[in-house]
Amino acid sequence: MKQIYIENMPNLPFNVSEALNQLRVSLGFAGEDIRTIMITSSTPNEGKSFVTMQLWKMMSEVGNRALLIDCDMRNSEMKNKWGFQAEEDIVGIVHFLAGKAEINDIVYSTNIANGYIIPVATNVPNPTILLESQRFRELLDVCKHEFDYILIDTPPLGSVADAMNIAPKTDGSLLIIRSGQTPRKVVENSVSLLRRVGVPLLGVVLNRADTSKHGNNYYYNHYYQYGYYNDKDGYYGKK
Ligand SMILES: Nc1ncnc2c1ncn2[C@@H]1O[C@H](COP(=O)(O)OP(=O)(O)OP(=O)(O)O)[C@@H](O)[C@H]1O
Ligand SMILES: [Mg+2]
Repeated sequence: MKQIYIENMPNLPFNVSEALNQLRVSLGFAGEDIRTIMITSSTPNEGKSFVTMQLWKMMSEVGNRALLIDCDMRNSEMKNKWGFQAEEDIVGIVHFLAGKAEINDIVYSTNIANGYIIPVATNVPNPTILLESQRFRELLDVCKHEFDYILIDTPPLGSVADAMNIAPKTDGSLLIIRSGQTPRKVVENSVSLLRRVGVPLLGVVLNRADTSKHGNNYYYNHYYQYGYYNDKDGYYGKK
C-alpha cells in the first residue's frame, strides 16, 4: 500500500485534545453500527476539516482502523494545509469516481498507525454526478468491511448539495458549529436539512468556543464542546 506522510500535524493544547477525546468516546457509545460518519457544517470555515482530521488521528491512536475520506472535492485544502508527502503523484477519490483508478490505488496508509486516508488529489468544479454514481456507494461498501471507522469530510450544507448527497449513504452525521458566529436560524436549517435526508444527527460540536467567557483561565481559548441537539420534539438522533 502506498503511503502519505502527513508533515503538519499540530500538537493540540490539553483542553482541546481532551474535548476531542470526549467526542471520540461519545461516538463509541453511539452504537456498533455507527461507523461511517459524515462531518459537516452550515457555512464555510467552521472547522470541519480540523475536527475530522483530529478525530481520525485519535481514533487511530487508540487502535481503531480509521479511514478519513476527503469528500470536499471542490475545495480540498488538506494536501497543502496538512503537508501531504508521497513518493509518487497522489491519486484520490476523484480519480476513482471518474473510473481512472481503483480502490487499492486511492487508499493510503499514513505515518499515523492504523490511520488511512483517501485524499482528493484533484479538485473538480462539479462533483455532483460523481457523488451520485454507483462507484461512490461501492467505495463505502468495500471500505466498511476493511475499517472500524470511516470519517467523511464534506463541504458546508449551505453552499452546495454535496453533503446532502453523501448523508444518506452514511450511518450518521456530526454538525460543526463555529461558536459565536453561525446564527441559530442557520443551524436550525441545517438540522432540518439533515433530518429531511433521514440521516441521524449524532451530535453537534461547538467549535472555537471562548472559554474565557465562562470564567475559565485557559491560555488557549479555542476548544470544542460536544453535545446533543434537542429540538421541540425532544431528542433527535441516536441514543
Ligand atoms: N478549534 C480550533 N482552534 C483553532 N483553530 C481552529 C479550530 N478549528 C478550526 N481552526 C482553524 O480554522 C480554519 C478553518 O478550519 P477548517 O479548515 O477545519 O474549516 P472547514 O469548516 O473545513 O472550512 P471549509 O468550509 O473551507 O472546508 C483552519 O485554519 C483551522 O486550522
Ligand atoms: Mg474543510
